[in-house]
Amino acid sequence: MIPYSTQTIEDDDIDSVNSVLRSPYLTCGPAVSDFEEQTAAYVNASYAVAVNSCTSALHIAMLALGVKSSDRVFVSAISFVASANCARYLGAEVDFIDTDKYTGNLDVNHLEEMLIEAEKQNRLPKVVVAVHLSGRPVDLEKIYALKLKYGFYLIEDAAHALGAVYKGHKIGDCFYSDITVFSFHPVKIITTAEGGMCLTNNEDLYRKMRLFSSHGIEKDSMYMTDQSRPNYYYEMQYLGFNYRMSDVHAALGISQLSKVDDFLARRREFAKDWEELLSADKNLTLPVADTENSISSWHLYQVGIPFGKRDYVYNTLRHRGICVQVHYLPIYKHPYYQSIKNYPTLPGAEYFFERTLSLPLYPKLKRLDLQMCAATLLGLIDEKKI
Ligand SMILES: Cc1ncc(COP(=O)(O)O)c(C=O)c1O
Repeated sequence: MIPYSTQTIEDDDIDSVNSVLRSPYLTCGPAVSDFEEQTAAYVNASYAVAVNSCTSALHIAMLALGVKSSDRVFVSAISFVASANCARYLGAEVDFIDTDKYTGNLDVNHLEEMLIEAEKQNRLPKVVVAVHLSGRPVDLEKIYALKLKYGFYLIEDAAHALGAVYKGHKIGDCFYSDITVFSFHPVKIITTAEGGMCLTNNEDLYRKMRLFSSHGIEKDSMYMTDQSRPNYYYEMQYLGFNYRMSDVHAALGISQLSKVDDFLARRREFAKDWEELLSADKNLTLPVADTENSISSWHLYQVGIPFGKRDYVYNTLRHRGICVQVHYLPIYKHPYYQSIKNYPTLPGAEYFFERTLSLPLYPKLKRLDLQMCAATLLGLIDEKKI
């Protein structure tokens, strides 16, 4: 079976994990803070909080921004459900932003229309969640202009986008946003098995996210309400969670991060290979290419299949051992979201969903396998009966 993505684990990763397993600290030790510091330095952000998943990262980001049940949150319609669920955990009303029909990234014009309407109703969103789908950066400059005009907080859901670059800014530097989150699930750019991280340049948000990730407990006497107590004393200042990353996971993250540029380079090479092999077939819509202003991390290689043929191609490729995937059903189509509100159908998101297929792309993919997958796909697109 050829997966659409999988982890790259090498001997140095195993050695890194082993060294923590032999050390005094399996959790709350130095590996977590090292991983945080190194990731923050890599993306050029001031602060990082490592947690046990990107879903947890999104939740504490919402908590730190003070999202409550009376608030509205706007979310890109094409994403994994976690991008929206984090707002629902706090009871906030979620509305979905339509996406570009070719990239699946949020459509800034639709966001602006939603904001104009929300302002008329005096119901502006507290937060906008922008997803860098497949690792392709959204147009942060335009979203930032709307953020300044309408006063919302911006979370970049960069679960796919570690290593992506927008107008010279590494995604994660939070130049345009309040908080960026990464995922370290095995299919992502680097992995800690399960894991995630929040990045920010705002010290107050950083301190809150740190507390929310660990029961809401403050141990630093400088920030305690009662500063006169001895060392054992700590205060629970918020209702937080145990979302901490362990040192075992962080050790894997550290060794993975040391290789991230190599992983990204291999993904880019394979994306070029896909483009070369598929571009002759005009029935396929290929992902937009990198430019100086927008460099993808190439988490996914998503192609548009002619209308009505996507499911046949999906089933047949899988039957032949090529585990392509569909990313994603528009979030509002899930039964849970259908049950809470009568959401409008969004044409860009529907178009993207109906046609898109994610093809195999990961650092240890073999070029011969990629060529075989391309030939199989092209053969299916050529078939008269579909
Ligand atoms: C866009 C996006 N956001 C958030 C998540 C949640 O990440 P995690 O599995 O680390 O909780 C995912 C996971 O696939 C994702 O694709």
